[in-house]
Amino acid sequence: MEPMTNRSYRLRGVRITQSQQAARDNLWAKYGVAFSESQIDLDSLFSKKQPIVMEIGYGMGEVTWQIAKANPDINYLGVEVHMPGAGKLMAKLAEHEITNVRLIERDVFEVFHYMVKDSSLDGAHLFFPDPWPKKRHFKRRIIQERFLSEVAAKLKPGGYLHIATDWVPYAEWITDVFSKTDLFVGGVIARPDTRPLTRFEGQGISKDHAVNDFRFLKA
Ligand SMILES: C[S@@+](CC[C@H](N)C(=O)[O-])C[C@H]1O[C@@H](n2cnc3c(N)ncnc32)[C@H](O)[C@@H]1O
Repeated sequence: MEPMTNRSYRLRGVRITQSQQAARDNLWAKYGVAFSESQIDLDSLFSKKQPIVMEIGYGMGEVTWQIAKANPDINYLGVEVHMPGAGKLMAKLAEHEITNVRLIERDVFEVFHYMVKDSSLDGAHLFFPDPWPKKRHFKRRIIQERFLSEVAAKLKPGGYLHIATDWVPYAEWITDVFSKTDLFVGGVIARPDTRPLTRFEGQGISKDHAVNDFRFLKA
C-alpha cells in the first residue's frame, strides 16, 4: 500500500539561507534522522529512553526548541517538509545545548507509513497547521479522517494529540472532523502555558483570527 498524502503543505518559493544550510550540514549528524522506507526503533534515536512526542510541521521550530528545553525528560521528534526550518532549528538546539530533539525532513504521512511503528508515540503536537482557507483547497487540510486514524494508530493507548490553530473556520473544521470519529476523546482547552507563544498569536486581525487549542486523548 502506498502512503497517503494530500499535499498539506506548499513547497513553492522556499529559500534556504546560507547560514541555515551551513547549520543543517554541520548539525545533521547530531540532530537529523535520515528518511528510510523501513521501521525504526524510535528510542534508539535518542540518548535517553523517555517518552516520545512527535511535532508535526514544526516550521522554523520556534516552539520546538523552547518546549524541548523546558521538558528535558521528554524526547521530541520533529517532522517537517520545509527545508529551511531544519537548519534554523538545529542552530537553536545547538545554541541551547538541547539533546532531546531529533528531526526528520519528510511528509509525515510517509514517516508514519514507513518508519513509525504502531503504538510508539506518547503524544503528538500539531501547531498552526496550514489553514487552506479556500474551499477548493479544503482537501489539502492535514486534519482529515485519514490523518486521525494514522495518528491514533501511532499513539500509545492514552497518548495525546495537541492542536492549535489561529484560524477560526479551521477550528470549526477540526471540531467537525473529530465529531465523526470515536478514535479520540477531548476538545477545546484553555491555552496551556506549556505551549510557548509564537508570532501567530495575539494578532486578532479579524473575527476569524483567534487561537484555539485542542487536546484529544486516544480513546
Ligand atoms: C503554518 S506552518 C506552522 C509551523 C509551526 N508549527 C509554527 O507554529 O510556527 C505549517 C507547517 O506544517 C508543515 N506541513 C504541512 N503538511 C505537512 C506534512 N504532511 N508533513 C510534514 N510537514 C507538514 C508545513 O511545511 C509548514 O511548515
